[in-house]
Formats: sequence, C-alpha cells, structure tokens
Amino acid sequence: MPQKSNVQIAPAKGKLGILIPGIGAVSTTFIAGVEAVKRGLGEPVGSLTQLATIRLGKRTDNRTPKIKDFVPLADLKDLVFGGWDIYEDTAYEAATNAKVLDKEILLKVKKPLEAIRPMTAVFDQEYVKRINGPNVKKAKTKMDKAKMLMADIANFKKDHKCARLVMIWCGSTEVFIRASQVHSSIKEFEAGLRNNDPMIAPSQIYAYAAIMSGVPFANGAPNLTHDIPALLDLARERGVPICGKDFKTGQTFLKTLLAPGFKARMLGVEGWFSTNILGNRDGEVLEDPGSFKTKEETKLSVLEQILQPDLYPMLYKNLYHAVRINYYPPRGDAKEGWDNIDIFGWLGYKMQIKVDFLCRDSILAAPLVLDLVLFLDLAQRAGMKGIQEWLSFYFKGPMTAPGLYPEHDIFIQLMKLKNTLRWMQGEDLITHLGNEYYD
Ligand SMILES: NC(=O)c1ccc[n+]([C@@H]2O[C@H](COP(=O)([O-])OP(=O)(O)OC[C@H]3O[C@@H](n4cnc5c(N)ncnc54)[C@H](O)[C@@H]3O)[C@@H](O)[C@H]2O)c1
Repeated sequence: MPQKSNVQIAPAKGKLGILIPGIGAVSTTFIAGVEAVKRGLGEPVGSLTQLATIRLGKRTDNRTPKIKDFVPLADLKDLVFGGWDIYEDTAYEAATNAKVLDKEILLKVKKPLEAIRPMTAVFDQEYVKRINGPNVKKAKTKMDKAKMLMADIANFKKDHKCARLVMIWCGSTEVFIRASQVHSSIKEFEAGLRNNDPMIAPSQIYAYAAIMSGVPFANGAPNLTHDIPALLDLARERGVPICGKDFKTGQTFLKTLLAPGFKARMLGVEGWFSTNILGNRDGEVLEDPGSFKTKEETKLSVLEQILQPDLYPMLYKNLYHAVRINYYPPRGDAKEGWDNIDIFGWLGYKMQIKVDFLCRDSILAAPLVLDLVLFLDLAQRAGMKGIQEWLSFYFKGPMTAPGLYPEHDIFIQLMKLKNTLRWMQGEDLITHLGNEYYD
C-alpha cells in the first residue's frame, strides 16, 4: 500500500439500509441498541466507530479526532433496518424471546422494532438441523430463490428510500462444508444455482444476491458462505467490498488478547482447554455436530497462527488445544466461557492460568455489527472492492486473499484498521518507528 492515497470518498448522504439474514438475538440486540442510542437511552459501548479516537501525525501534534469525525461515516439517524428469518416474529417479538435486553428498554423502542417483519427466508434444513420455521421461500431452483432475494433487496431500497445498502449475515451457523467444484468459478456457481446443487448453502444464495445487487456483504457466522473463489471473483468483478467471518466476541476475543502476550514474552504454552455453556438458540444450533464443526474450525485456528509453532517449536509445538460448547438452557444468552491455560517459563517451570468469562454474547456482538456495516459502507463509497482485510479486527476467521495467512493478533489488526483509515484520508501511516535516536 502506498504511504498516501488520493482516494475520493463519496459523502454519506441519504439513508443506509441494513439488511440482515437472521432476525435473532444478535441482530435484534444491534437494532434495538441503535434505536436506544438514537433516543439517548444508552451509550454505544464497544463500538470503535462511535467512541474511538485516532492519532494523526506526530505525538506532539495533539491531533486525535474521533474516528467518526475523521472519516465520513453514515449517521445513526440515517440507518434503516430490514431482514429475513424462517420465523414470522417481528424484531420486537424476536428481541423479547431472545431475552438479552430488559423489557423496560425494549418497550421504549417497541415501535421501530415492531415495524420490522422478516421477509421470507431462503432456508434448507440440511444446513441447520435443529430449527425449522414457516416463513420460507418456495421456488423450483436455487437461482429462482436468488432472484427472489434480489427482488426483496430492490424493493426494500425503493420502499425505504435508501441511498445505499449493506447486508450482514446474522443467521444460524450452517453445517461445515468445504469449497468444492461448484464453488470454483462464477460460471460453475451459477450453473449450480440453476441445477439445485446440494453443495450451495442458503447463506451463499444471500451472498450471491447481495453482490449481484452491488450490496457489500459481511458474514458474522463461521459458515463458508462467500469465502469461495466464485463469490470472491464476483465481488471484485462487481466492485463490491466484502468481509468475514465469525464475530470475534467472547472467548476467542480473550484468546487473541492473551496469546500474543505470551508469545511477546517468549513464554511457552503447553495446553489450552476452552469450554463454554450457553442456552440461547445459537447454543441449540451448535449442539448439532455439523454446525459445531464449522464453529470449531474458526475457534481452533487462532492459536496456531498467533503462536507460530513452526518458528518456535520448543515453546508451542506440543500445544494441546481443545474447544467445547455445551447447550445449557438456564444460561440463555449469558454464556460462560472457561479457559484453562497451561504455560511454562524459565527452565520449563509450569504455571496455570484460569479464565472464567461470564459474558453476554449478543451484547458483545451488537457493536461489531454496527462498526462492520458502517465501515463496509465507507469502503464502498471509497471505491474499495473484494475482501476488506483491514476489518479482520472483527473476526475469528478473517478472510484473506488466496494464499495468504490471516492475521489474528488483535493489536496488529487494530493497527491495520487505523492505518487504512489514515491512508484513505491521505494522512501519514503510523509505524511507531521514531528517529529520535539520531536527531
Ligand atoms: N453472539 C456472538 O457473540 C456471536 C459471535 C460469533 C458468531 N455469532 C454467530 O452469529 C449468528 C447469530 O447468532 P444469534 O445468537 O443471533 O443466533 P439466533 O439463533 O438467536 O439467531 C439466528 C437467526 O437466524 C435465523 N436463520 C437461520 N437460518 C436462516 C436463513 N437461512 N435465513 C434467514 N434466517 C435464518 C434463525 O431462525 C434465527 O432466528 C450465529 O451463527 C452465531 O454463531 C454470534
């Protein structure tokens, strides 16, 4: 990337429509939260776009504007929401059922939430085994369903007078699939849609419809979705920014805080056992081995990349890493994530660390949804297309260009995010390298 850009960013004029497959716990907590913030009922804690500052120039310059004052982001008052779900519940009913937010606050935003009625979903129970609902599209082929989604997108834009749209998958985790022949090119993929190829998942039909409609697409779940050559090519060809996958919120967020610290100090890690109990619908879906396998892949991948056992075999080669998730209804969305970490130091002396994170999944995920939709919209107005690696900060399994390994260290991810914003606005990149030693 050159030091300075001459990127032209179109202004954030008019309404930004946020389209969400999956009107469940995360999406309703996000929507209700934005409506609450708009009304002064709460603060957008956890959101970089709303709260964080960015240092510009030299440390002595004292220039640290808020990110939202530095780059032209859509204003919260210009956001409108819509989505799809297999259940007919309005966003108000879904939020009530999810039991993340208190009744008191939900009642105050009841009106806008009640107005959000999910459009009929593209669904296939082969991909999410534990749930089934009536609000689904019926059509002969997957291509017909993709076209129905494109019509939904166009109608939403017209009906809500949106200037621009962004789509973010907050649907259930689909079963694990690997990229195969049908995913290998746009031509193969479109033939697969017409022939009802069983290897094309519902989330891939949404991603295809979004990209074909010129709508940026993010994936909050670990599903393969648009991380396939066909949809990566399509996004570049159509000039659409995309990113994914799997929001980095609870246990993995903590893992990517701790692991870089151990490595920075050259401390060894012998074992990392992570277990979770959660009782929301997400937990129920993850009871299915196929959906769990998808989640396990993104959860396991982070340590390997951060610790680099190939470079440091003595410290990390024998690391035993296991992740478990158990569905435990009494906890609802208030998940508990335990980690037992066996580390070793000087002369191999052993130590243990126990982490017990009593977290709230959707409370951690909601600000990530907000940042991602605002940044993807910014990227599109800046003419950026394809995978937005600078948004890796938000994901457990960051998508990268083919052949590159993902960056999981959250502090490197944050530096990349902020430097990208500086670059977009023609500011000097900050490398933290000084020349004071020679002045
Ligand atoms: N909360 C977090 O911290 C977090 C972190 C990382 C990833 N995620 C992922 O985000 C997703 C949403 O989580 P949640 O807690 O809101 O789950 P949820 O079960 O409350 O909501 C998911 C919704 O998606 C719907 N759905 C499933 N398939 C669909 C389809 N094909 N089209 C339209 N709707 C569909 C379901 O009916 C459900 O209402 C899950 O995949 C979860 O794994 C969440």
